[in-house]
Amino acid sequence: MTVPGIASPVLDALQGIVGTNGVLADAAGMAGYLRDWSGDYRGAALAVLRPSSVAEVQALVRLCASLGLGIIPQGGNTGLVAGAIDTKGAGALIVSLDRLNAIRLIDADNFMLRADAGCVLQTIKDASEKQDCLFPLALGAQGSCRIGGNAATNAGGVNVLRYGMARDLILGLEVVLADGELWNGFSGLRKNNTGYDLKQLFIGAEGTLGIITGVEVKLFPKPARVETAYLGVASFEAAIALFRQARRDCSDLVSAFEIIGAECIELARLIDPGTTAPVTAPVQVLIELSSSALVDLNAVLVGFLAGAMENGLVGDAVLASSSAQAKGFWAIREGLVEGQARRGYHVRTDLSVKISDIPALIERARRFVVTDHPGWTPLAYGHAGDGNIHFNVLPPLDLADGEARSRGADVTAGLYDIAVGLGGSISAEHGIGRSRRQEFWSGLSPVHRRLATTLKDAFDPKGLMNPGCLLPPTETTP
Ligand code: FAD
Ligand code: LAC
Ligand code: ZN
Repeated sequence: MTVPGIASPVLDALQGIVGTNGVLADAAGMAGYLRDWSGDYRGAALAVLRPSSVAEVQALVRLCASLGLGIIPQGGNTGLVAGAIDTKGAGALIVSLDRLNAIRLIDADNFMLRADAGCVLQTIKDASEKQDCLFPLALGAQGSCRIGGNAATNAGGVNVLRYGMARDLILGLEVVLADGELWNGFSGLRKNNTGYDLKQLFIGAEGTLGIITGVEVKLFPKPARVETAYLGVASFEAAIALFRQARRDCSDLVSAFEIIGAECIELARLIDPGTTAPVTAPVQVLIELSSSALVDLNAVLVGFLAGAMENGLVGDAVLASSSAQAKGFWAIREGLVEGQARRGYHVRTDLSVKISDIPALIERARRFVVTDHPGWTPLAYGHAGDGNIHFNVLPPLDLADGEARSRGADVTAGLYDIAVGLGGSISAEHGIGRSRRQEFWSGLSPVHRRLATTLKDAFDPKGLMNPGCLLPPTETTP
């Protein structure tokens, strides 16, 4: 991959806007911005720009627009679909929001917080907690991902079934448009039914319509009670039946319902060799209940589990007796994701089907892998309460990386066919980026394509915002 060097008058102009410290143009300085968390993608850029104010973002975008230079917005660079990494090295500039990272306002009375787009998600969660509030977006990458990236990807995570995706949690956005103009979409309002809801267009647009510089989010009362249990069930059918029952019996206080195929535990052990699952069943469930009021949640959970054991839905159950034990349960869930990455290249999916179709999805996907790709190891885990399964597949250990990647593309295509055949989606929460662009675009109807292209042209007529991401290249894409 070759990238033309940056011309020195352009470098001077960029430094004039963000200062010498705000421009990284050397290989060592840029390295961390040019490879993704999973190690799957490497990219290139003319330079990495690190503005520290909204005015600087505007000035950078104006300069890039005048020079016809593409811009890739980047948050915490934890995305899993090469949205913030220019894998083709077409010569764009990365605009990292990592120096624009302050919390601007916390208004606990109105359950609202406003932050710069580069604020790390964990920082927002911690600050909310200090005000006795909860910002419920929760994902394994929360210590690194940034709220602008969460908005741009419409992030999901483990609490979606109770609180919704990022889209449902965002009250307002501030965005630098493709010509450098600023759109202030903050209002603090919960209800504002005045025509087009522009913020929704930027949410999930993966940086293709503008650079988000500020985000206004909804807060919730901090849970006063949390109960966590790790359960063993006989099958994915049983897990889904259990979920249905849990919603009814637990008065919709379920805040997480994650399923983990027993085969995933070995991966968590790659991170912590001492990991043992609290149960030995083929399908394991991590369930969490939470409530801000002094409801006797323990009694609710125990009552629900007693019924579920009596009717045979649950085999073994371990209730966390302390927050440390609950943390240990969650460490298994997080560890298996890290363990996969440590194992090296693997097929990673993010499939979505109707909740009731989860067992069929997993059964068909497993059969496909065993039959068509013997030696590959299927894994199934995910956010069952949202119909979102990460059905991943590990290549045989002795397969060379290049061969694994090329065969992995066939495995991925087969899994997408299965999900789409069930009326599902190829991306529940991670997005399209550069890695799924082809499959995304070819699956759209002509009318959907026309509307998407019209929207892109209206917001970014020169095609400079995250070129190569989400949409197919246009004639103006650099
Ligand atoms: P980046 O990776 O920097 O960027 C992602 C996309 O957003 C790119 O297209 C980029 O151009 C665009 N973008 C970033 N910032 C801006 C901005 N300010 N303005 C405009 N566009 C912008 N995701 C889930 O949904 N659920 C999960 O459970 C989950 N778990 C994860 C666990 C791990 C261990 C890891 C590594 C990732 C996980 N992810 C998950 C994926 C990832 O964390 C999310 O997609 C996250 O929202 C990305 O945020 P980021 O700040 O890292 O964005
Ligand atoms: C998870 C990420 C990978 O659910 O989406 O762990
Ligand atoms: Zn997930």
